[in-house]
Amino acid sequence: MKDYQNDYPDHTQSPDYEHGDEAPSNRSNNPTFFDVIEARASRRGFLMGGLAAAITGLVGVGVSTRGALAASTSPLLGFNAVPVTEDDMIHVPEGYKTQILARWGDAISGDMPAYHGANTGEEQGHQVGMHHDGQHFFPIEGESPYEGSSTDGLYVLNHEYIEPRFLHAEKYAGQELDSGAVVYHDGKRDDDEVLKEINAHGVAVFRVQKQENGDWEIIADPRNRRITGNTPMEIGGPVRGSHHVVTKYSPDGTMTRGTLNNCAHGVTPWNTYLAAEENWAGYFSNTDQEDQKPNLPREHARYGVSTNPNARYGWHHAMSGADEYLRFDASTKGASAAEDYRNEPNGFGWVVEIDPFNPDSTPVKRTHLGRFAHEGVVFAKAEAGKPIVAYAGDDARFEYIYKFVSRDVYTPGETDGAILDEGTLYVAKFNADGTGEWLALAPGRNGLTRDNGFADLADILVNTRLAADTAGATKMDRPEWGAVDPATGEVYFTLTNNTRRTEAQVDPANPRAGNQFGHIIRWREGRDDPAATSFTWDLFVIAGDVGTSRTLSGDSLDEDNIFACPDGLWFDADSRLWIQTDIGESAQNKGDLAPVGNNAMLAADPRTGEIRRFLTGPMGQEITGVCTTPDQRTMFVGVQHPGATTTPEDFAAGTLASHWPDGGDAVPRSALVVITREDGGVIGA
Ligand code: FEO
Ligand code: CA
Ligand code: CA
Repeated sequence: MKDYQNDYPDHTQSPDYEHGDEAPSNRSNNPTFFDVIEARASRRGFLMGGLAAAITGLVGVGVSTRGALAASTSPLLGFNAVPVTEDDMIHVPEGYKTQILARWGDAISGDMPAYHGANTGEEQGHQVGMHHDGQHFFPIEGESPYEGSSTDGLYVLNHEYIEPRFLHAEKYAGQELDSGAVVYHDGKRDDDEVLKEINAHGVAVFRVQKQENGDWEIIADPRNRRITGNTPMEIGGPVRGSHHVVTKYSPDGTMTRGTLNNCAHGVTPWNTYLAAEENWAGYFSNTDQEDQKPNLPREHARYGVSTNPNARYGWHHAMSGADEYLRFDASTKGASAAEDYRNEPNGFGWVVEIDPFNPDSTPVKRTHLGRFAHEGVVFAKAEAGKPIVAYAGDDARFEYIYKFVSRDVYTPGETDGAILDEGTLYVAKFNADGTGEWLALAPGRNGLTRDNGFADLADILVNTRLAADTAGATKMDRPEWGAVDPATGEVYFTLTNNTRRTEAQVDPANPRAGNQFGHIIRWREGRDDPAATSFTWDLFVIAGDVGTSRTLSGDSLDEDNIFACPDGLWFDADSRLWIQTDIGESAQNKGDLAPVGNNAMLAADPRTGEIRRFLTGPMGQEITGVCTTPDQRTMFVGVQHPGATTTPEDFAAGTLASHWPDGGDAVPRSALVVITREDGGVIGA
């Protein structure tokens, strides 16, 4: 409201902005623990692992390192660590082999258009999208997300964002362009470029099959489809039909078009896929002003809707002026919300449910899971007769971790996505004594009253971040993926980094100022009941170089496991914890981040705390997305944005930082790496 209207900067202009960064917009006065002096005094000793306490003694202290292999006691980690690398290749442990599958541009549907540098926007709509992220292998039987065929399935893959200079490589060749730049012609965008960009976003569903020779291939199938930034979607849950989502396209507020910036994902117990909308706000422009200052409603300002007339890609400047493009201009233009797209951004920031086995199904935005920079969704183990519980992180600096508990109980074979439409959304408060509380975001609870500006549940959900501010949640260091240990029910979340946290803002759950390396937090719900409103927590690992990191054993990370900026996180069926890293492209292979090399994937034993590097990736990319077939003998791993570190000058000169995976002088392409063992064994064991 007024706070935001008066001085709301365009965050894309800030010096440390990176493509994919959401605006830091949390201006609430929620206390950090160190505002309470007692908290500092009680820090030592409360954490199970003692890691936050250990951090206070790090400066200037020599830290011994030990070989993880030599001291290994973990029955879960049966491979030799791969070293840190800085080359343009995938490296996996001895005894493992890799295959490339589902590169950006590979055909999946329609006339199966072949990939080339001048594919049209329509062709892109039948091809694998760009920038692979969350993903899951659904066994072809279509009955369970985790049981069934290990050689045939529907693969569902999120596409987070795009790199226009590679998407339009032939047209843009020779121009000095950075990784987010698009080209305008007299202030307008070429329509087919815009369509190609929108169609390279979203989600891909395609059948994959293991062949006789052991290789995996994409198979034409009537269920193969692309869901894009233009696909019609239902708005479900409490926000459906509310005034917040009334647009020219949907005057009754029940529909919207497209999903954008799908980062991590979720897999429901009823065999559907959830795509999370993360850094969507910057795609929309709102140039409304009052007294020559930006004048954005709170549901835009608190999320970072752009005040730049072009926003991220200027899609609303498409030459044709077609309605599906104009909607990215969220400025007030008509006499009412039903005559313009002032509410278009309110249709984004949600979790989208997709049924991969029904190609005619319309995706549904499940609004009771909250509206924020949704990294992903992870479910607690579903038990018959108990509520469904799901966790989600808001990946922006100083944002929060959420939990949804359904009103209705789970009935296997009957429950569907509608169970996500009724229940309670909570936000996490991490207390300094190692306990925590789930604060309900519901009318009349935790200050969410009309007097405080929250009219009803739909208002709370559209303004989830402001509701969490009001409730008094704990500001975290960019919550990314979560994972639930199948053996214990403990929940792990990556906190990737937050270089803006000051000493005064340090707290036990976010224990480092200027946190460039990130950490992993975990908690156990009260009475081991996922629906509980209290929990106990500790830190699993504090990432970084050998001087500033800590594992559960109290040792520093060493040459076999040094890593930074944990992002992707996933438990396999044996409780092996897979950790994927995303050091931003401006920091990779430089300064304090140089010792950790290219982005990588590691495996950890949650009981012993041992961590071992399993895979390193090519130049300029992040490793994101991982799953296995039910037999755990084939693993799929995503490689996103190879070559993104190419400078504008080098792009103009045709000198790209990566040519992965095609090699030669090829344009780099996001792709899946399929990993198997030469002896056919379980991956990681
Ligand atoms: Fe898309 Fe938070 O990583
Ligand atoms: Ca991520
Ligand atoms: Ca990321």
